[in-house]
Amino acid sequence: MGSSLLGGLLKTGAVNAADVLATVRSEETAAGLRERFGIPITAGGNREAARQADVVILATKPHITPKVLDEIHEELRPNQLLISLAAALPMRVLEAKARKVMPIFRAMPNLPVIVEEGATALCWNGHTTGSQRDYVEKLFRSVGVVVHVDEEQLDAVTALSGSGPAYVYMVIEAFIAGGLKMGLSREIATKLAEQTVLGAAKHVRQSGVHPAVLRDEVITPGGTTIVAIHELEKHGLRSMLISAIEAATEHAQERGRALVRKVEGHE
Ligand SMILES: NC(=O)c1ccc[n+]([C@@H]2O[C@H](COP(=O)([O-])OP(=O)(O)OC[C@H]3O[C@@H](n4cnc5c(N)ncnc54)[C@H](OP(=O)(O)O)[C@@H]3O)[C@@H](O)[C@H]2O)c1
Repeated sequence: MGSSLLGGLLKTGAVNAADVLATVRSEETAAGLRERFGIPITAGGNREAARQADVVILATKPHITPKVLDEIHEELRPNQLLISLAAALPMRVLEAKARKVMPIFRAMPNLPVIVEEGATALCWNGHTTGSQRDYVEKLFRSVGVVVHVDEEQLDAVTALSGSGPAYVYMVIEAFIAGGLKMGLSREIATKLAEQTVLGAAKHVRQSGVHPAVLRDEVITPGGTTIVAIHELEKHGLRSMLISAIEAATEHAQERGRALVRKVEGHE
């Protein structure tokens, strides 16, 4: 996620390559990212990066982020911005681990930030100013759309748009497989599948019309679409996706509770 966001921010010019200090854990990853982005990326340089930064973006796994904060907290300053991308890791843990009063944001972006079509939800703590919130919103808006939510809604966001690209990739994969099964070439099936998803999403956005209405417009009485829709309904497509988002939300909520218990020493 961190490298996708970095890629998107560099591509749009929202940040200058010369202003970025990125660090990872292993030299192997650092070398790969240096080659990909052509900027200095260090392994194990968290403290140094935090010391020099005005904005610190943490893109480590949720169980690693508290450890990174333990490592860098002495370098953090109240006039920096701290942004955590970690799913499920609550603000109260970030605040406790930062060990100082400072502006902290939680951001839940998704992978399409790399093609400037990300969906990011933001929430923040009580120590942010309007101009800091504008700055962070602008940063993520440069790589897609941004919404603001209350922190308790962030687990649902994680389940819907954070993980969502994975579900859509599965849909595209299955469209391609269906096309292949029916004899289309790989190239043609792929082109049609990706454009169909892209076009349908764009139509929903630009028309502002509920997708159920748009779906109905594709149906010709006695035609092929309704036959396919009947099949999809028999297999519970919509119910399956609703349940997937519900299950993923509950998983994120439980994960958050477990992280709090761990960090606060209850287990
Ligand atoms: N994946 C998504 O689509 C997505 C969407 C929204 C939010 N997120 C959030 O983004 C975060 C990262 O997820 P991910 O899927 O990108 O994980 P990932 O692929 O495992 O990447 C984690 C990165 O953190 C680095 N790292 C690990 N330990 C570190 C340490 N102690 N100090 C500095 N860097 C360290 C790793 O470096 P090495 O490779 O050298 O170990 C790796 O580059 C998670 O908190 C996740 O909840 C992810």
